[in-house]
Amino acid sequence: MYEGKNIILGITGGIAAYKSADLVSRLKKRGADVFCVMTDAAQEFITPLTLRTISNNPVFIKMFTEKCLTNVEHIGLADRADLFIIAPATANIIGKINCGIADDLLTTTIMATKAPVLFALAMNVNMYLNPIVQENIENLKRKGYYFVEPEEGILACGYEGKGRLANPEVILDRAEELLIKVKPLNGRKVLVTAGPTCEPLDPVRYITNHSTGKMGFAIARQALLLGADVTLVSGPTNQGTSKGIKLIRIQTALQMRDAVIEEFAECDIVVKAAAVADYRPKYTANDKIKKQPGDLSIELERNPDILFELGKKKVNQVLVGFAAETKDVLKYAAEKVKAKNLDYIVANDITQPGAGFGGETNIVTLIFADGKTKALPQMSKEETAREIIIEAIKLLHFKE
Ligand code: CTP
Repeated sequence: MYEGKNIILGITGGIAAYKSADLVSRLKKRGADVFCVMTDAAQEFITPLTLRTISNNPVFIKMFTEKCLTNVEHIGLADRADLFIIAPATANIIGKINCGIADDLLTTTIMATKAPVLFALAMNVNMYLNPIVQENIENLKRKGYYFVEPEEGILACGYEGKGRLANPEVILDRAEELLIKVKPLNGRKVLVTAGPTCEPLDPVRYITNHSTGKMGFAIARQALLLGADVTLVSGPTNQGTSKGIKLIRIQTALQMRDAVIEEFAECDIVVKAAAVADYRPKYTANDKIKKQPGDLSIELERNPDILFELGKKKVNQVLVGFAAETKDVLKYAAEKVKAKNLDYIVANDITQPGAGFGGETNIVTLIFADGKTKALPQMSKEETAREIIIEAIKLLHFKE
């Protein structure tokens, strides 16, 4: 669940701050990209260098600095986050956020985010039980903030009671529950193409291919589950769509082209899983072609390469292609990434058992524009679809 997620870890000034290094490491092991924001007090307990080394990302400590990832650092971080974890969260940070005080990078970032915020509390037992702190916690819960309660035990201050930072696995499990609720594609538009195209020869015959549309429909479904506004442009298939997907049915490559071009500018992610016919009959007879003595030749003309056209128009969109091949799979697929200006391509060898048209599973390799590859094991088409969308989400964040 953490795969591809941006977690902002806020660290405030309590003795449990040293445990944040372990949290970062566990988050990374689960696949998250972690960005640490430290208060001044936190730096008394653990150094930015430690966290930078473990997170493999810059550590953010100052509101005003020349070395920024974005123009307005707190807004950039706030927007980037899938989830905030504040661990340890002291009485001070709880009080400040409850009162709307934003006087450093961490508090301004928490105020500016729309992502869920999870406070893992750690403080002296008497501070924790102080009615002001308890009231602040209750108020924040009512406002939609989340909490991991401290654990009982011997506290660093010598007291015994409730105040120790919760076990990291407890914090991570609670964070994971929140991530499942979060839909990373909320407000995003995803365009998927699926199925074959059918190129008519006459009113009863056409040229097509074996695509069933299963993979494309699964991608559209997964994008919808992750919160996207999904448009699916599909050739003729027997697949049913989920309510909530805008389905545009087409027959020919030319119709698919028109539908896709119309939607493209508004899209954040485009996945072209359709098996588009590269050629169409040059002439389509108005009446059924009657058989004649001898052989028949059909003259074909080239269809537009829709994906190639999208690659030319691409601005910030994440553009994903498919390559179903029967030999030299990775070589041909990598050539298509370059030729069509893709962010990545989903390559599969349709001769392999468990891959390709019609079946329930697929075995694919993702090939990225920078030449990196990611081979996925044999998985159901739904699982493969989810991986494909998650990779696109990662690239989307990267482009912003
Ligand atoms: N594609 C497209 N328009 C076409 C042909 C293909 O948009 N006229 C897209 C497909 O949807 C797929 C990608 O391009 O995402 C690769 O399609 P594929 O048929 O594997 O490759 P082609 O570019 O057609 O090359 P070839 O048939 O020679 O392998």
